[in-house]
Amino acid sequence: MCGIVGCMGCPNGTLETLMDGLGNLEYRGYDSAGVALGPVLETRKRAGELDELRKTVAEEPPTGDFGVGHTRWSTHGPPADRNAHPHTDESGRVAVVHNGIIENYQRIRDELEAEGVTFTSETDTEVVPHLIARELESGSDATNGDGGCSPADAFHAVVDRLEGSYALCVVVDGHEAIFAARQGSPLVMGVDERATYLASDVPAFIERTRDVVFLEDGQRVELRPDDWTVMDADRSPVEVSVETVEYTAEATGKSGYDHYMLKEINEQPDALRQCLSGRLDELDGTIEIEELSDLEEPTSVQIVACGTSYHAAVYAATLLRGAGVPAAAHLASEYATAPAPLGKGTLVIGVTQSGETADTLAALREARARGARTLAVTNQVNSTAARECDDVVYIRAGPEIGVAATKTFSSQLMATLLLTEDLVGLAEDLDPLIEALRDLPGAIQTVLDTTDAREVAAEIADSDAYFFIGRDRQFPVALEGALKCKEISYEHAEGFAAGELKHGPLALVTPATPVFAIVTGDGERARKTIGNIKEVEARDAPVVAVTDGRSEAERYADLVLEIPETHPLTAPVLTNVQLQLVSYHLANDLGRPIDKPRNLAKSVTVE
Ligand code: G6P
Repeated sequence: MCGIVGCMGCPNGTLETLMDGLGNLEYRGYDSAGVALGPVLETRKRAGELDELRKTVAEEPPTGDFGVGHTRWSTHGPPADRNAHPHTDESGRVAVVHNGIIENYQRIRDELEAEGVTFTSETDTEVVPHLIARELESGSDATNGDGGCSPADAFHAVVDRLEGSYALCVVVDGHEAIFAARQGSPLVMGVDERATYLASDVPAFIERTRDVVFLEDGQRVELRPDDWTVMDADRSPVEVSVETVEYTAEATGKSGYDHYMLKEINEQPDALRQCLSGRLDELDGTIEIEELSDLEEPTSVQIVACGTSYHAAVYAATLLRGAGVPAAAHLASEYATAPAPLGKGTLVIGVTQSGETADTLAALREARARGARTLAVTNQVNSTAARECDDVVYIRAGPEIGVAATKTFSSQLMATLLLTEDLVGLAEDLDPLIEALRDLPGAIQTVLDTTDAREVAAEIADSDAYFFIGRDRQFPVALEGALKCKEISYEHAEGFAAGELKHGPLALVTPATPVFAIVTGDGERARKTIGNIKEVEARDAPVVAVTDGRSEAERYADLVLEIPETHPLTAPVLTNVQLQLVSYHLANDLGRPIDKPRNLAKSVTVE
């Protein structure tokens, strides 16, 4: 999803700072990039990878003391140079970068075109520089004595007209300032003694400063060479606090791994240690999440989420129902417009790694508007979800750069398990679960050290499609295994509840469609899933059992991915790690751009 950077007073050079920032935001997903530097406005932009822009700026380097940059993820108009940001007005006096969607752009565009303005792109964003240019020429709030507006007045007057979601940064030729506004799309500001930075996310400037102002919706910023001001929509200055973020530049590097995804898969033992830290009391045999101490036991729970986070929501709903509480997982994009009825005491939980996913925020806002108490389960401290919900539980996975979520999924599973116990109680005797949680980081390490995922991936490569089946708590792992596979390998993959296979998908099963069967434990679920494996075998499809070896699954499988024995509630983390690794190796062998899969974005900030 679009990424914004901006800098004022950068000691190491404006262009270098902007290009580094854009590089750090590549993980968000993009298809074009550009920069604008001032005060003598110069813009460069190119469709394609950041390397295309690097070549362009190397041929003709723009110079300036400050500037803005952008990586674009197409919504209005295909990836093309003309649609890349920054967008400028006809005279090239105003440059704008934007993340979000301006919902009233068509009306504004019609109005401007009727006045004779020529547009050069199909984007919604382009209305903004034209509007600002018009204000500069003829604005009614004349404050600069020559019949037009000052750049600041023009900026604020135009932002007042915009509907929809935006993080916007604007530079006006000949004027030493960057103007920015945030409404519904993320924008943070980094500060140090000499420089100020703007960005969609902290990693953009993390190697330069860790002191951050998290801007709120409705706030605007003016950066000037010697100071900065945050103001509200009425232009009254707002006092903001500068927070020091914990993660360091090293945490966002690849640390010798070929891909962020592989690094993040390998970080899971540590991520889970952080997630569990201070929340398990082995002596008392209790689990407690401090942040939830004021929350009463809900009568029912609705969980809203998208993508991988939705799969964690499916797991969490299974746990809650198992604990006797009516609970369901909802796709946030559906819930936002077709919400489930709320009861008295219904808690609505949003599971979102970024805390910025537009569909999830819309679903949570819908729930709040109807009177529900809301809880965010998120990785991003101070994200929009964290700030807008009544309560927040942090999953503490650390920064995740790979577009395909890995460690954050594991941390979401365990954070929702802890919160289920804290809110409604999972079992009388928690000791076995606490022991399994304590041993879980080590068990993941064992999987990482002993996995046969690479060999399995090589064995099943070149298949027509890949299917994943699991039951109950392993059903979300089947869904996630398939999602990971399609996201990064571009191979066709689907996940099914094991029992559903025979109700349709079996028609697709052939000797060229391997089926990953997730079977843990030795109870009824395992026996039934083994029955499903036999159905697959009878169609000559290769079966890969992902198993703890407690059932007979291995006997009927062609290939096996083993996990150590653990508690039934923690087993999904381990089976999922095996499937993450299979997808990684499959995609790697196919030479896919693993950290930046085509068309996908890390944080999807449009509905
Ligand atoms: C995008 C990402 C997915 C992610 C989903 C939800 O589609 O590519 O990896 O699961 O958004 O993101 P969230 O930040 O809300 O967990």
